[in-house]
Amino acid sequence: MAKINCIGILTSGGDAPGMNAAIRAVTRAGISNGFSIKGIYRGYEGLIKGEVKAFTTEDVSGIITRGGTILKTARCKEFTTHEGREKAYETCKREGIDALVVIGGNGSLTGARDFGMEFDFPVIGLPGTIDNDLYGTDATIGYDTTMNTIMECVDRIRDTANSHERIFFVEVMGRDAGFLAQNCAIACGAEAAIVPEETTDVDQLAQFMGRGIRKSKKSCIVIVSESPKCGALYYADRVKKEFPGFDVRVSILGHLQRGGSPSAHDRILASCTGAGAIEAIKQGQRNVMVGIRNNEVVYVPFSECIRTDKRFDKRLITVLNELSI
Ligand code: F6P
Repeated sequence: MAKINCIGILTSGGDAPGMNAAIRAVTRAGISNGFSIKGIYRGYEGLIKGEVKAFTTEDVSGIITRGGTILKTARCKEFTTHEGREKAYETCKREGIDALVVIGGNGSLTGARDFGMEFDFPVIGLPGTIDNDLYGTDATIGYDTTMNTIMECVDRIRDTANSHERIFFVEVMGRDAGFLAQNCAIACGAEAAIVPEETTDVDQLAQFMGRGIRKSKKSCIVIVSESPKCGALYYADRVKKEFPGFDVRVSILGHLQRGGSPSAHDRILASCTGAGAIEAIKQGQRNVMVGIRNNEVVYVPFSECIRTDKRFDKRLITVLNELSI
């Protein structure tokens, strides 16, 4: 196996709080272990175009507290083609980059796997996404911060919902996964969650809402996972039509969920997995994602972590139902 001297690092896909902490960790752990580090701007797009800069420890100073990513990010169509990946490989050769660390979610790590296999190139992934939809790690970088942001927003919505005795449908991100919606519903004391993993019947939903309202409750919060067809607006419309007795409002939280200073949990996760990426390279690992399971750093083959069927524990549905009476 060729000796690795220089490691390139990039962030790709949707930004997530903690990505900067991960960039810092990879850079500093890399330099501490004798590697040189190059930052690649704008994800795979920058790798294709050659937007590369040599990083020193100063380049990552003071960024552990910041949301977003100092390396910028992009969703790059061209990298899904062989031609695009070939251009990226040319950049690596030209820049003397011997290995890559890719911080991103499902799509980004799929690209990392294809690139690594096609060019027999060492690539290490870090789980950077607010959606928590990657296998092999208990949590992804950004997920905890986003849950806290959602919780803060919903706590505020509860104040106005209570005052007007209204029902709020609050839409949260998550792409095709219900982790954010289900866990935030529990954290916010919501009355119900609508997640892609379960079909939700409107009559049953109305029953849930009415149950609380009729008793001591003065308001009702339903957390809804984003969905092109049946998001918060869809459910709110149906409830308004079919149960005109309810005073219904919708709040779509949108991209504010992705910003903000990372939580302690995300900073630690990013720091430990970032240092773990350098350890993986030292051990000669390739085409693996670094995760944390049961408080231990683990290396998970890309093919395993990008499976699309990671599901939250169904017992969380029972917990929410039992606690929302
Ligand atoms: O994957 C992260 C995520 O925030 C998803 O939850 C959401 O569906 C998507 O990205 C939004 O992407 P964009 O910022 O490109 O609109």
